[in-house]
Amino acid sequence: MYSNDQVKELSALTNKLIASSHTEKAFEIAEDIRKALRFNEYRYYVLNDPLISDSEYDQLYKALEKIEAAHPELTTSTSPTQRVGNSLNASFNTVAHLVPMLSLDNSYNAADLLDWDRKARELTGLNEVEYCIEPKFDGASISLIYENDCLVRGATRGDGVEGDDITTNIKQIKSIPLGAEFSKYNVQQIEIRGEVMMSKKAFKKFNVNLAEQNLPPLANPRNAASGSLRMKDPKDVAKRNLEAFLYNVSYHIDTEKGGQHKNLDTHSGTLNMLWDLGFRSPVKEMMVVKGIEAAISHVNDYEALRDTLPYEIDGMVIKVNQLDLQDKMGMTTHHPRWAMAFKFKARQATSKLRTIEFQVGRTGAVTPVAKIEPVLIGGVTVGSISLFNEDIIKEKDLMIGDTVLVERAGDVIPYIVKSLSELRDGNETPIKFPTECPVCNSQLFKEESEAVWRCINMECPAQVIEKMIHFVSKDAMDIRSFGEANVRKFYELDLLKDIPGIYKLDFEAISRLGGFGKKSIDNLQAAIEASKQQPLHRLIFALGIRFVGETTAKVLSNKVNHLLDLKNYLEEDLQQLEDIGVKVAGSIVQFFKNEQNIEMLEHLEALGVQMNNTKKTAVEKGGLKGQTFLFTGSLTELKRSEAEELVEQHGGKLLGSVSSKLNYLVVGEDAGSKLEKAKKINAIKIISEKDFIKLVQQ
Ligand code: IVH
Repeated sequence: MYSNDQVKELSALTNKLIASSHTEKAFEIAEDIRKALRFNEYRYYVLNDPLISDSEYDQLYKALEKIEAAHPELTTSTSPTQRVGNSLNASFNTVAHLVPMLSLDNSYNAADLLDWDRKARELTGLNEVEYCIEPKFDGASISLIYENDCLVRGATRGDGVEGDDITTNIKQIKSIPLGAEFSKYNVQQIEIRGEVMMSKKAFKKFNVNLAEQNLPPLANPRNAASGSLRMKDPKDVAKRNLEAFLYNVSYHIDTEKGGQHKNLDTHSGTLNMLWDLGFRSPVKEMMVVKGIEAAISHVNDYEALRDTLPYEIDGMVIKVNQLDLQDKMGMTTHHPRWAMAFKFKARQATSKLRTIEFQVGRTGAVTPVAKIEPVLIGGVTVGSISLFNEDIIKEKDLMIGDTVLVERAGDVIPYIVKSLSELRDGNETPIKFPTECPVCNSQLFKEESEAVWRCINMECPAQVIEKMIHFVSKDAMDIRSFGEANVRKFYELDLLKDIPGIYKLDFEAISRLGGFGKKSIDNLQAAIEASKQQPLHRLIFALGIRFVGETTAKVLSNKVNHLLDLKNYLEEDLQQLEDIGVKVAGSIVQFFKNEQNIEMLEHLEALGVQMNNTKKTAVEKGGLKGQTFLFTGSLTELKRSEAEELVEQHGGKLLGSVSSKLNYLVVGEDAGSKLEKAKKINAIKIISEKDFIKLVQQ
């Protein structure tokens, strides 16, 4: 296996190797690197505990690419380089599953489960049945076929008999091994079922990204996962950070008669086998119990954990554990008799659509918001649901007075699934989208390529207020004690009319308002003052330029020495930058061409808001020069990427694992094995996130 140091030497080694055209040696090294890459993919994607950094992984990967390019005959079908699909999926071929992909029978309470257990005991002739219980993963189901230890096909469920061949897209999911040593278990061909998932975190990020591009958000991670599997460009699939749980062996051929491995006697055994071969099967999540009472109590306990999991589950699946008993019980035309889904409380509810409010955002976009009769969904009362744009109202055929089906998945924003038009009684009224701004009454406009109606009056109070709310918000200038309520209040009282006004507040007048003690005014003043020194990328994001989210703001701030340098950038220049396309570049140029905006920026600078890229100076400062850092556990103040960036900005270096070369291990919440390992090495300083922040600020 490659150590961090060896990775560094690898590039020189591969160059030498290619030049020498020593094929045998090249094959040996290529195999070595493949093993290292597979192992590290497994550590990262299956165990969630990487041992090397992303850049070290990239170096290994590039070295392998180089060798394979020089010796194409040495490339193997299970090489990690073979995940990348270079061509587009023209269409997906229909393929037959080896065994029909049945669905599961559903149960909702203990009585249903007792009833099912009674039948299971009857059919097996046992007094007590052994069950294996797993989460019911809420994603998109897939089937994988491995032959002679290689992944040969991945397919969607389709109608259960036939699905779509999505092999190339499946290969983009790094927790699915391209090869696995099934031969060790005497298995020559195997069909495995599982679920492709998008984690709650990846899903949130995905929706933020959609919102930045003015596209409607997706309802839930399940839709995001199933949509991703059918994308034309496999490279786009790779960007979605999909994961997969493999939970059932539906079919297998043994290499020799009677050669069946003992792991293939029970369902839990098959899950253990899959885990052993590098799959993410739910071995840590499963529980084997005897008798239905224990199963009932386990599924109830697990429901309480639902919101703490990093991915969505919508219930539990209880399976008869002995595979020979499964065979004995058989199946109906729809589902196996040996398995039962226990569905958690629904996160959907119906309610009446009372009215639609039209809200004007900071870019002037008019968003329809459905006001429904408040309903309790999964413990939260929902009364207000954003509908995003006019097309969605049409698409869902919504009318005032309709009964609507509402879904709220975990901490995901609530969503109207559909209207139940069959329940209409004739009293429903159509929804009329306004032609004038509901706040300033100026005419609304819609660009041809867009679905959003906009108020283009720059002085529209709604926009002015929303822009200021965004400016002071946590992810922008982070003026802590300001907040939405104060922006609105100060605006209404004429104490604040635009963004520069934030830095010219009349605190005397505010102190006369009542409700503001001396302490709160001092705090507010200090927070406003401190915000003048925020890093440039925060200021850029705070300006609320259309399509410029936090990521783009960082890219832009890295490019310039001073914010107003952006005045000189042409669309072509901007498009050269990472992640900036035509639309974004156009919007940035438009912003900096507008005289009013430039005046505002100059005003802000005169008021003391710093517009230099201090990052460049920080690098020169290099306070952490020569020091190495590693982070473990979850940080609370900083994002992991921000903390890592700080290290590099101050001249420090990041390491991928704990070793004697490490100077600082920064420990967040729930730190695990890295902390234990670091404790054994005296030279490593173990510090908290707070200590780290102090260290950087020194
Ligand atoms: S077993 C023959 N186990 O739920 C039975 N299914 O509503 C094979 N699902 O179509 C399925 N988690 O896509 C099984 N741990 C789990 C599951 C699971 C999610 C899905 C699966 C199935 C659907 C039925």
